Amino acid sequence: MTDLTIPSIRLDGDYVSLVLSRVRENIDLIYFGPKLPEEEKLEQLTASQQYGQHENQPNRPPITGIFPQTRGGYDGPPAFEIIQADRVIDPDFKLEGFSGSDRQARFTWADENTGLKVDQLWEIGSGDIVRVAADLAANKTGATVTKASSLVLPLAGRFDRLTWFPGRWAKEAQETKLTIDTCIIDMSTHAGKPGFNGGNWIILSDSGQRDQIGIHTSSLGNHNVQVFRDFDGRTVAKMAAHCPPGGISLADGGSVNLGVIEFGYAPDADLMTQRFQDYVRNEILPDRANWAPRKVHLNSWEALSFDLSESGLMQLADDAAKLGVERLVLDDGWFKNRRNDRAGLGDWTVDKAIFPKGLTPLIDHVKSLRMDFGLWVEPEMISPDSDLYRAHPDWCLHDQSDDRPTERNQLVLDLSRTEVRQYIKHALDALLRDNDIAYLKWDHNRRLFPDNGSQRDGISDLLIHMREKSPDVEIEICSSGGGRISTAYLRYGHRVWPSDNNDPIERLPIMQNWSRFLPLEILGNHVGPSPNPITGRQTAMDFRAKVALFGHMGVEANPADMSDADRDCLAAHIALYKKWRSVLHSGDYARLDHPDDGIFAHMVVGDDAAIGMAAQTGFGENFNAALVRLKGLKPDAQYLVQLPKPWPKKASQYLPNAGRWEDGLRLTGQALMQQGLALPLTHPETAWLFALQRIVT
Ligand code: GLA
Repeated sequence: MTDLTIPSIRLDGDYVSLVLSRVRENIDLIYFGPKLPEEEKLEQLTASQQYGQHENQPNRPPITGIFPQTRGGYDGPPAFEIIQADRVIDPDFKLEGFSGSDRQARFTWADENTGLKVDQLWEIGSGDIVRVAADLAANKTGATVTKASSLVLPLAGRFDRLTWFPGRWAKEAQETKLTIDTCIIDMSTHAGKPGFNGGNWIILSDSGQRDQIGIHTSSLGNHNVQVFRDFDGRTVAKMAAHCPPGGISLADGGSVNLGVIEFGYAPDADLMTQRFQDYVRNEILPDRANWAPRKVHLNSWEALSFDLSESGLMQLADDAAKLGVERLVLDDGWFKNRRNDRAGLGDWTVDKAIFPKGLTPLIDHVKSLRMDFGLWVEPEMISPDSDLYRAHPDWCLHDQSDDRPTERNQLVLDLSRTEVRQYIKHALDALLRDNDIAYLKWDHNRRLFPDNGSQRDGISDLLIHMREKSPDVEIEICSSGGGRISTAYLRYGHRVWPSDNNDPIERLPIMQNWSRFLPLEILGNHVGPSPNPITGRQTAMDFRAKVALFGHMGVEANPADMSDADRDCLAAHIALYKKWRSVLHSGDYARLDHPDDGIFAHMVVGDDAAIGMAAQTGFGENFNAALVRLKGLKPDAQYLVQLPKPWPKKASQYLPNAGRWEDGLRLTGQALMQQGLALPLTHPETAWLFALQRIVT
């Protein structure tokens, strides 16, 4: 082909290269993978990737490229779908400008007829994650963009396996694998939040499951993600991070940001994880470098639910402090008339019936125990049974009908209204001004229906306000658990609540799957009660506590309901968490493969130390489980390997050489990674911790 009318652009990270070239009026992603040698000739590389014309194809066969358009005969889903004068039209976006430097490229596309212009900025960030931010602008009115891609990624056809993480309330992020075939796989959400469908976090891999491309569609609201195979046999991922219902209609001179897509390449799954975690740590989380150690929480929800009293909470704080807890989080139920989930949302004043003198006596008590204080809020919501609703029944999202359908008995405030946002800002500012609050758990328990499409700008306005006005207050992003986990929120937040499900057997896969992209220090992980209030399952404290160590650890149960032995066991694990959190929250995370599906194992490797866990959820087929092989160590280094106590009671009877394990065994990284450890994983609910210290001679 001779139509390479612009030079190719090459972007290099530390380990990856990306080559984008002009091909047939489009831009193609010619290469995305391990770093190319300096001397690679981009023009020749591009020429080596071209296919010719077949009989039954347009004479100039279109390619998908990064900007597929129906005009010219492309028959896959186009990047943009547009209506003008009530008719679907084929736009003719032409590449108007491009520029590139080492780690950055910019493309601008313009369509003369509609006056629409699309600008895409590509940048390689920390962890070699590529961030693409797209904007749409108009210099005419009259066009409605019904579908606007933020990015279309044409990849090599060998990436024919899709892993995504759909779920539901209390069972988020379930790893699901599909082969990419002739159908279009659509993973879109509606109702105004990323939701539980998991299509915003996907991994494309080759059939050997080694090479990986992870893609996050970073959105505060809906996303539209499609994966399909095009007519050249290539795998295409098409992502939209801004999909308001009814589409986008811009005024002359108007513009809108189409959101951000983040994607990365790695030669294996663990590196994919480490690169995404690196990116999130260094480029997303607010002021991450200056974070203090992640405090152990005690959250009142599964301890007391709505059964709140000042004396009961003070008692809870006393009991929490004895366990080593460092922060008491007062969950739902503290504000006016909120005795159950049918009333009170919107009235963000302290309920005098529970706290006659406000929250100050409780907070003072908590602080006297050397803990700090956190509070639950759900600022975007309103209960029909609330003073706010009685005063402003028109402040909620609603349509013209009399019917205002609720979810969890609540409605959503219309954040496009300035007076509504002002009200929320004043309410939150007053709470934070009048009370010594270190942490807000920001919840969101209802989908948007009807959705007027402007909630995204409202929520970002609120979150920006909070960061500016109260920069020291940490924010947890919660949405019935993991209903809106996205880097779009994490820019303003310090942790997410991955799931309401604290049952350790359910929690293990949920945590492992979120940690494919997100570091452990922002994944809340709590020891809940037994039986678990959601699943009804009974589990041993030793098991619950070991599982909760791998995350931002907390307790969501009432210590007063525990036996002495369980309290001691929990306190010992909290002490272990404190000892190891600097490694857990900065090291490289790896999932450990094990042939038994009922065994989950993972570890975190720091500079000179590592901590891991192997947990058994099912009854083994053999007396003894296969060896647990470690990862990420230095092959030639010597490590002192110990099994931190407390040991699981039943399983420790099967541990030979207990004395030798107490002293620790000296093993090389090579032996630990190649051969592994024999651990007595004998019964369900058995978990072992293993801790490694590098021996420096
Ligand atoms: C949601 C959250 C829970 C808890 C309740 C309180 O379900 O996910 O953690 O805060 O609300 O109503």
